Amino acid sequence: MARLFFALWPPDGVREALGRLSQEVAAAAGGRRVPQANIHLTLAFLGEVATERGPLVREAADSVRGEPFELSLDRLGSFRRAGVAWMGPSATPLALGDLASNLASALRARDFSIEDRPFAAHVTLARGIGKPIVAAPAVPVAWTARQFVLVESERSTGRYAIRGTWLLGTR
Ligand code: 2AM
Repeated sequence: MARLFFALWPPDGVREALGRLSQEVAAAAGGRRVPQANIHLTLAFLGEVATERGPLVREAADSVRGEPFELSLDRLGSFRRAGVAWMGPSATPLALGDLASNLASALRARDFSIEDRPFAAHVTLARGIGKPIVAAPAVPVAWTARQFVLVESERSTGRYAIRGTWLLGTR
């Protein structure tokens, strides 16, 4: 069994910018920052997957096509119930929405149950926040997304380990 999700994984410069913001946001909202190395944007959350079904997860990702796209993270806010502070795009690029929905469809077609809540593109910066953040514009962080990854959330270490990378625009 492995706990898996698909994500956009920020390139180094974007990761550093988001890492600095996570520190500021956690301090302001009274929560735990997400460690810089863990910062990501979730595309599809699978949860626990039996080892023998791993190839089907990869097959689903192989079937998804998409071009690289620009993403502007220009809004800070929080999800009150989850107690998380996030940064996200005020407008989700079509290519990002399509990537998330095509991945979800490809996974559902292989009998994985993927939440059917509308996709809310966000990067979690802090967890367990003490006070909500009213969503507001922020200095944009520009991110060119060129790939997506399959990530395992390791129970033993609490770390995220990349288990696969799919380039956009090359297939
Ligand atoms: P979050 O950042 O909003 O908490 C790994 O847990 C990633 O999958 C996180 O980015 C988390 O989103 C996301 N995720 C989506 N649905 C989830 C769920 N039902 N349980 C745990 N994580 C989920």
